[in-house]
Amino acid sequence: MTTETTTTFAETAEREDRFQLATYKKFPFAAERGRGAWIETSQGEQYLDLYGGHAVAGVGHCHPHVVAAIREQAGHLLFYSNMVYSGARARAAERLVSCAPAPVTKAFFCNSGTEANENAMRMARLRTRREKIITFSGSFHGRTADAISATALGKYRELGRPNVPGHLFGEFGDIESVVSLADETIAAVMLEPIQSMAGVRMAEPSFYRRLRELCDARSMLLIYDEVQTGVGRTGSWFFAGGEAGDGIVPDIITLAKALGSGVPVGACLTTEDMASHIKENDLGTTFGGGMLAMAAVTATLEAIEADGMLENVRAIEQHLREQLAGVKGIASVRGRGFLLGIEFIEPIAASVQKKLLEQRIITGTSSDARVLRLLPPLCLKGEEADLLIKALRQVGE
Ligand SMILES: Cc1ncc(COP(=O)(O)O)c(C=O)c1O
Repeated sequence: MTTETTTTFAETAEREDRFQLATYKKFPFAAERGRGAWIETSQGEQYLDLYGGHAVAGVGHCHPHVVAAIREQAGHLLFYSNMVYSGARARAAERLVSCAPAPVTKAFFCNSGTEANENAMRMARLRTRREKIITFSGSFHGRTADAISATALGKYRELGRPNVPGHLFGEFGDIESVVSLADETIAAVMLEPIQSMAGVRMAEPSFYRRLRELCDARSMLLIYDEVQTGVGRTGSWFFAGGEAGDGIVPDIITLAKALGSGVPVGACLTTEDMASHIKENDLGTTFGGGMLAMAAVTATLEAIEADGMLENVRAIEQHLREQLAGVKGIASVRGRGFLLGIEFIEPIAASVQKKLLEQRIITGTSSDARVLRLLPPLCLKGEEADLLIKALRQVGE
């Protein structure tokens, strides 16, 4: 059997547009290969990927250790469900929870971020025997029924109509807005500890602490949606337990994106207490915990550690902040680690993104027209960051 390859970009684009629903605005190239922070197009052009393959290429594109692990696993067994035990699954679960802050000790594997959030909300309802969930203005939690109903951002919630009932919304960063909603019907408070799509918004450290205290006082669970902030993105394994969030650890952490370096995988991490309330068949999915995905998870976590990527994120973040501080037109740099929002004085993020793309640098926008989003691979080098700094200086001239 041979695999047909398309050669020209125009041909690929025409075919894809003809046979696939047009649900995403696309960059004007076809990605063919990747290595580290770089993407090579079908025409042989090199792009610096500061959007990290939509926040998925945490360890960089095609990290050799991850590729080797996937290849090896593929030769042994691609998949079997949770009906059987698996060494690959045991290794991934152990490694993942060993990165998590106490008292998080258990993993449940699924396939995506939205699914992780759906399961987290279900766990909270099972544990508390309550139904309602509080999320926040500016939130994005996914596109399936419950997760989109928990999403306050833009038009998404509308797209999910009729919404799942029992979703309430507080003001991100404003603890009093949660206090007024937190009655005995609330199962959980769920938040992205750094709101990414809303424009890389963070709250004061005291907000996370007060949320934890409120949840404890009113017997509600706390869920961190770390689909973007998890797996090393903020310069620590998770936002949970880190100093930006005052060391606070939630009851459930949800993960996806960079967890499998491109092999689809999501996870909920949680505590022994929660585990003791989850019974057989309370949660499930055919593909969750499949061997190929599990091999990718273990290798991803190993690569982050072996290559010192957490330290790299912190060092390069510092460098970016210092260098971007003086650039004309930039008001501030938001976020933490490699989830950064460059806030411009004017609402020009989209046009800056376009100009950078012309210079073969990929970045992201957000729902805030002033904020350009960076989600680069955790292996980004200083000289690669300098290419962005130079390009932004030119844009500002
Ligand atoms: C914070 C957050 N949660 C959940 C999701 C949904 O993840 P997925 O697209 O894997 O379903 C996303 C996706 O962008 C996200 O950014």
